[in-house]
Amino acid sequence: MTQSHVHDVLVIGSGAAGLTVALRLPTTCRVALLSKADLNQGSTWWAQGGMAAVLHNRDTVDSHVADTLAAGAGLCRHEAVEFTVRNSRRCVEWLVDQGVDFDLRDAASGQIRREFHLTMEGGHSHRRIIHAADRTGRAISEVLTDKAAAAHNIEIFTHRVAVDLVVSEGRCQGAYILDQESGHVDLFQASAVVLATGGASKAYLYTSNPDGASGDGIAMAWRAGCRVANLEFNQFHPTCLYHPEAGSFLVTEAIRGEGGKLLLPNGEPFMRAFDDRGELAPRDVVARAIDHEMKRLGADCVFLDISHQSSDFLSSHFPTVMSRCMALGIDISAEPIPVVPAAHYTCGGILVDHYSRTDLPGLYAVGETSCTGLHGANRMASNSLLECVVYAESAASHIVRHLEQIPTLTPADAWDESQVTDSDEDVVISHNWDELRRFMWDYVGIVRTNKRLQRALHRVELLQAEIAEYYGNYKVSNDLLELRNLAMVAELMIRCAILRQESRGLHYTLDYPNKLPVARDTILQPQRPPA
Ligand code: FUM
Repeated sequence: MTQSHVHDVLVIGSGAAGLTVALRLPTTCRVALLSKADLNQGSTWWAQGGMAAVLHNRDTVDSHVADTLAAGAGLCRHEAVEFTVRNSRRCVEWLVDQGVDFDLRDAASGQIRREFHLTMEGGHSHRRIIHAADRTGRAISEVLTDKAAAAHNIEIFTHRVAVDLVVSEGRCQGAYILDQESGHVDLFQASAVVLATGGASKAYLYTSNPDGASGDGIAMAWRAGCRVANLEFNQFHPTCLYHPEAGSFLVTEAIRGEGGKLLLPNGEPFMRAFDDRGELAPRDVVARAIDHEMKRLGADCVFLDISHQSSDFLSSHFPTVMSRCMALGIDISAEPIPVVPAAHYTCGGILVDHYSRTDLPGLYAVGETSCTGLHGANRMASNSLLECVVYAESAASHIVRHLEQIPTLTPADAWDESQVTDSDEDVVISHNWDELRRFMWDYVGIVRTNKRLQRALHRVELLQAEIAEYYGNYKVSNDLLELRNLAMVAELMIRCAILRQESRGLHYTLDYPNKLPVARDTILQPQRPPA
């Protein structure tokens, strides 16, 4: 039996962005918070590094803004950067008030005021990353999840996968949602809908992201008529653990912030030959340097050496990395860590304004799924948790101010399954999934060319046709929905990449190795604009 639910606000996604929106809404507001899997399986949970904020007395808003603009390679929206950075301290204070236990500096004896321990990451000219050892995302998730679970106005639904948005009378009025347990698609209606579904790095064969990073929000918003922007800027994290049993394990950039050196297989350091900032150059520079050296030497990986730090220091600052490596037989206090770049962050997304509003009235997008203009052509490390919390507050404040004026919901049809049957060939899904991720890695990766992008476009169009046919004939499942969304977003990424005829930030193409004099966003407009 399919079910219908009605709430004031529907939040799709349960990471830092979704949880913050839900908790920032007043308790008079009835909120449905949806999670695709268990609450601890999204990208926030896995974030190691931390959250950038202006907290040190020698740091300034202007400096954080300038570093973000420099990393963004001329493409950041200045107002978005100012807005985010100016709100950083307040948003950290809100998280601390919720109970997030960020690491403190060792207090000097007799010192009354406690100060946060701040780490350093690529592109930052100050120590400004507030963190909870190397499991910051988990610390934030646990606290906000507990708060949301205790809030009587927030109803949490897990194992729910969004299929598509409900658009009626020119507004977003909800979404069709697959309940993975019952196998039915339910109708969730709400006066405001917030997409907080994360990025699409799962489009790549190698990624630091958890399985759910399939671009669901971006694909749904596009199908509902919203513009998307700058999807050619896929950030590759320079250092993911290279080991057959490591899966997609990230080795946090904060290790380089504490003096970690990148080495070739023969033990030689190489980063200074690429950038004066060495290991702390922005991620695009470091990832490209590693890619270049691996290809030049035919090497499977490079190495990250932090063995100059003591075992005590490493186990207190990097317990997650240390124990994961140790479990695989790598003692990071004594030997270098084998690392490779992997897809990590989707800098573009659904175009939004300061209030996280999309083109479609009633629809908001927050966090990695959105494009606020903060990241430009390259996200600076640890600016993304900050963006989630700042823009979630701003979305919530806009929703609250307008909720009363929103027209009554229009009755919507239940999901119709009368024309579809159970799939008899799931291999089509797994095959297409593998194919998509491999050609995205090979053709739309760290270094691109026109020819590779055209090949990728051709492949993705064929895949999309096959997926559409499958979708039209068989009952939906999580894997099918993710594949459909991922193929859609991959096409948008490729189209953005083809349109950018220059190399800027994370988009590097051998056919146009230089930057154009003027930086412009790549904005794609769907054929069906919002009504
Ligand atoms: O390296 C890291 O810990 C990742 C940080 C980030 O992506 O912001």
